[in-house]
Amino acid sequence: MQLEVRIERLGVKGDGVAESPQGPVFVPFALPRELVRIAVEPGNERAELIELLEPSPDRIAPICPHFGSCGGCALQHLEDQAYLDWKRDSVVAAMRSRGLDPEIEKVRPVPVGSRRRAALALGRGRAGLALGYRRARSHELIDIDVCPVLTPRIVAGLPKLKQALAPLLGGKREARVSVTETESGLDIVVEGIRPTPASLGAFAGKAASLGVARLNADGESIGPAPSPEIVLSGARVRLPAGAFLQASREAEAVLVGLVREGAGGAKRVADLFAGLGTFTFALAGDAAVDAFEADEAALQALTEAARKTPKLKPVRGLVRDLFREPLSPKELQAYDAAVFDPPRAGAAAQAEALAKSEVPRLVAVSCNPGTLARDLRILVDGGYRIARIVPVDQFLFSPHVEMVAHLVR
Ligand SMILES: C[S@@+](CC[C@H](N)C(=O)[O-])C[C@H]1O[C@@H](n2cnc3c(N)ncnc32)[C@H](O)[C@@H]1O
Repeated sequence: MQLEVRIERLGVKGDGVAESPQGPVFVPFALPRELVRIAVEPGNERAELIELLEPSPDRIAPICPHFGSCGGCALQHLEDQAYLDWKRDSVVAAMRSRGLDPEIEKVRPVPVGSRRRAALALGRGRAGLALGYRRARSHELIDIDVCPVLTPRIVAGLPKLKQALAPLLGGKREARVSVTETESGLDIVVEGIRPTPASLGAFAGKAASLGVARLNADGESIGPAPSPEIVLSGARVRLPAGAFLQASREAEAVLVGLVREGAGGAKRVADLFAGLGTFTFALAGDAAVDAFEADEAALQALTEAARKTPKLKPVRGLVRDLFREPLSPKELQAYDAAVFDPPRAGAAAQAEALAKSEVPRLVAVSCNPGTLARDLRILVDGGYRIARIVPVDQFLFSPHVEMVAHLVR
């Protein structure tokens, strides 16, 4: 059935939302106030945009030729400030859903071409070999030759990388390929296939000419730089295959600045969910830092780097599952600031313990407004005050947003 509808708002995933006789419908690539003709099946809330009858003044030309077909980006067709406001609104809505109404600052922008980590797929499709993202709302792979989100070095490497990785597929249709730009070159992790030793050997012979430092496949690493490094606040840290790394160096710099501000002049800091030490090294110039993390390989890389980096206050790396065994209020007495940067699931158990602690300053870093709001609610109920929340546009053109919150008591 075809209908004319007026788009009322943007949904959380970036689709235009309109009221129709059958209730709310979600229209991809439509913007608020636009009049559009849509096709929608009875009982289905997802519509297809057939014709743009009255475009929004906020509509702009997307910067990528793949936009609209590639599932990697949701929103390149909205003017910059309206786009950043939409991201901010998603944080406001998440906080309100937990009864919180703190001031949410303007979203800090991050430049295009700055994403240093890409999760791609390699496969043989109808159009031949492809290395890229999935088509929007489909399993089909789109071959990516340009991508304004990724760093130029990653984009430039993709065509040759695709050809060199293809023999690794063997008889399999697809593999997951993650590409990270490191100081030593590109770091590739291939999952979902078991390449033969011969195909890995052939790839190893070409790796240096492809700018590849390391290829990790099925848990085994080959390549000219088997321990690629990244630099975190001046510390050279070995990157274990698959370890967490902030998606953009520029976003990392903004997050680090905000974390340092939030920790104030603290002299003893607990860095919870520390990963490779993005915040540990930023704080350890002025404060003794205890870094808690569940991933042993990441923590080992962090402690090795701490030993080699001059002019740091003492850094300790402690393996700990903070979901099952959060730091207790008694253990937290040792610190005058705590930073926590959990995965998307948030840090409910750790927030409960922090809420009963006397740590004067907390900094929460999160990529999920829903779980951040839940954890902040726990802390506010425990007597903390939210001093500021700053969203950072780390995940350009996607519905995702990074946030830093400062809390005090
Ligand atoms: C969002 S990352 C942040 C890492 C680091 N703060 C950074 O900025 O690079 C979340 C980290 O939490 C770790 N993690 C996940 N579950 C955990 C758990 N139950 N206990 C402790 N750490 C965990 C992950 O290994 C990952 O390093």
